[in-house]
Amino acid sequence: MNRPPSRPPGSTRSSQSSQSSQSRQSSRRPRTAAPQPYDICYRIDRGSPPPRCRLAVDYDLIRLAEVTAPEKLCGELSAVTRPGERIFMNALPHTPMSQLELDFSAAGRLLRPGGGLRVAVRDPKTVRRIGKLLRAAFAEVQVDRGDGETAYFCRGWRGAPAPANTLALSSTDPRSGRAFTLATRPGLFAYSEVDPGTRLLLDAIGDVAECRTLDLGCGYGIVGLTAAARGARVTLVDSDARAVELARANLAANGLAGEVLLQDGISGLPAASFERVLSNPPTHAGSAKLQELFAGMLRVTVPGGWVALVVRERLNYEKWLCELGEVRRLATAAGYKVLEIRKG
Ligand SMILES: C[S@@+](CC[C@H](N)C(=O)[O-])C[C@H]1O[C@@H](n2cnc3c(N)ncnc32)[C@H](O)[C@@H]1O
Repeated sequence: MNRPPSRPPGSTRSSQSSQSSQSRQSSRRPRTAAPQPYDICYRIDRGSPPPRCRLAVDYDLIRLAEVTAPEKLCGELSAVTRPGERIFMNALPHTPMSQLELDFSAAGRLLRPGGGLRVAVRDPKTVRRIGKLLRAAFAEVQVDRGDGETAYFCRGWRGAPAPANTLALSSTDPRSGRAFTLATRPGLFAYSEVDPGTRLLLDAIGDVAECRTLDLGCGYGIVGLTAAARGARVTLVDSDARAVELARANLAANGLAGEVLLQDGISGLPAASFERVLSNPPTHAGSAKLQELFAGMLRVTVPGGWVALVVRERLNYEKWLCELGEVRRLATAAGYKVLEIRKG
């Protein structure tokens, strides 16, 4: 459970400590005052009751959409400019340590003097490593264990600069032979090398020159960028603010033009606006979301256009896709298949 610190940062002990003044107060006030809201909450955990906060921040747009808060920001904590006295964050499972290090540094920079950061960790495998990172970043770290969670309460940021965590990756387009340099980040899909499924997709698709082409779930932009290099007019979409930022930078760094949008699926894109839709889709998103994404891809495709998807060979998405258009297998290799869905 995301409990606020027992004595919230910034709170002061009451100067009226006499028995009579306490009993006067307790007759007027509820016994347990509602916990003070956090100024900033970062990465709300779906598995825990959400802490009250003024500004909710997450780089995952879909996760952020589930949060109720007066103000929201889709981005990393480093994108916040307004300091806070009470900051809360979840160190969610599978978050790379390099991302957490960046986030702790951003939180430290945002803390007002005397303020505190609470970090909740539910994954027992990462508790010690996270504690070590926090002790390196903050002068004072208290630990609070309970309810299947370890919470670290930190004060006094030591002021070390945020570590760099961008990697450079090289990729060559199998068709044109053109080489690209791409910036990636730990935590993004296939950040250390281009995914073999993505390579198969780029190998298998036909001509895209002059076609309005959508890369849905673009990550750091490899598919859209390759299509742009082959002469397509590209739009790249992702729901992860870090991916969108890198995809934009990668297009520019490789001298390519394209539109990059932070959004959930095809929301906001006009129907029948692309001749080609390319995707290595987020298959972990669950059946309902995937079916919504597949239907959306066909909705934005012009009649006569096609969607090309790469998925694991063992997954039977054809059962849904054949209801949306004519399905054909374009390629199979290394446990992946590329499916083409033509819109009639
Ligand atoms: C399998 S990865 C593919 C990334 C990249 N195209 C590649 O081939 O390396 C799927 C991508 O879809 C994004 N994604 C997940 N759900 C999404 C949604 N609802 N709308 C847009 N993008 C989404 C993820 O952030 C991730 O970058």
